[in-house]
Amino acid sequence: MRDPNLLVGVETSDDAAVYKLTDDIALILTLDFFTPIVDDPYMFGQIAAANSLSDVYAMGGRPIAALNIVCFPPKKLHLSILEEILRGGVEKVLEAGAVLVGGHSVDDMEPKYGLSVAGIVHPQQVKTNSNARPGDKLVLTKPLGTGIIATAVKAEMASPEAEKAAMSWMVTLNRAAAEAMVEVGAHACTDITGFGLMGHALELARGSRVDLLIRAGNLPLLPEVLEYASMGLVPGGAYNNRRFCGEAVEIDSGVPQELQDVLFDPQTSGGLLISVAPEKVEDLLCLLEEKGVRVARVVGEVLPGEGRIRVVP
Ligand code: CO
Ligand code: CO
Ligand code: CO
Repeated sequence: MRDPNLLVGVETSDDAAVYKLTDDIALILTLDFFTPIVDDPYMFGQIAAANSLSDVYAMGGRPIAALNIVCFPPKKLHLSILEEILRGGVEKVLEAGAVLVGGHSVDDMEPKYGLSVAGIVHPQQVKTNSNARPGDKLVLTKPLGTGIIATAVKAEMASPEAEKAAMSWMVTLNRAAAEAMVEVGAHACTDITGFGLMGHALELARGSRVDLLIRAGNLPLLPEVLEYASMGLVPGGAYNNRRFCGEAVEIDSGVPQELQDVLFDPQTSGGLLISVAPEKVEDLLCLLEEKGVRVARVVGEVLPGEGRIRVVP
């Protein structure tokens, strides 16, 4: 697609498209929806909405309006379940300071839910995958392991604490994290979702034509994730992600197998991975804490290169 106003299209695997409307305003467009990952419909609605809104935050933007995307089998499931899903969704849209303006539903065997979100951003403040610079520090704003814990929940092996922690992180908006990174002027950002930390980090590395060094020992983790991973409670998507990354990700043999699994674990409504100049990283961490972001950790750095990742213990 060629249009001088299209600031971000499909080329760099970014979180959303960005289209310049005026010199001061660009429109962010994105959509996301998926099948239930938790039993509680109200919780599912919140998670799906937080996940959809996140792509606007990952571009440094502010959501303004959202549309529901709904697939539901009214003959198989009671409509009150759909009401609960939508109630969870609208709550997150309001928390984001946006408005819900409509949507579309189809009769489908398996329920699915998500949002199409429109956001705005200053054209000069768009955070893409393509501007990470050698020397930058990488900051992650949520703990990893939602896929592994969901797998443990399905196997009825997850502790209530682990399940509760995963839920509370999945419904947490990336709003405060995005505001902080825009305020300090971070170079690049993406959110961590289905392709896992490595998949999304690789998009950033390739988009910016740099290499990344990830320190596995610094990664924030949800409770009991390593335990479940070592029991083999790893979702199939993690293996797909590993295959997709292939030779571009090189992991030191000193990184334990269960931690390697976490690197590729598909995340739902994960945190932001922010690339920020080294002299600004302390300001960013302070601001994140001030704004109530409970986890923010320097997990690596950007090196000169051409789109590869090295993971060290
Ligand atoms: Co994204
Ligand atoms: Co997305
Ligand atoms: Co981005």
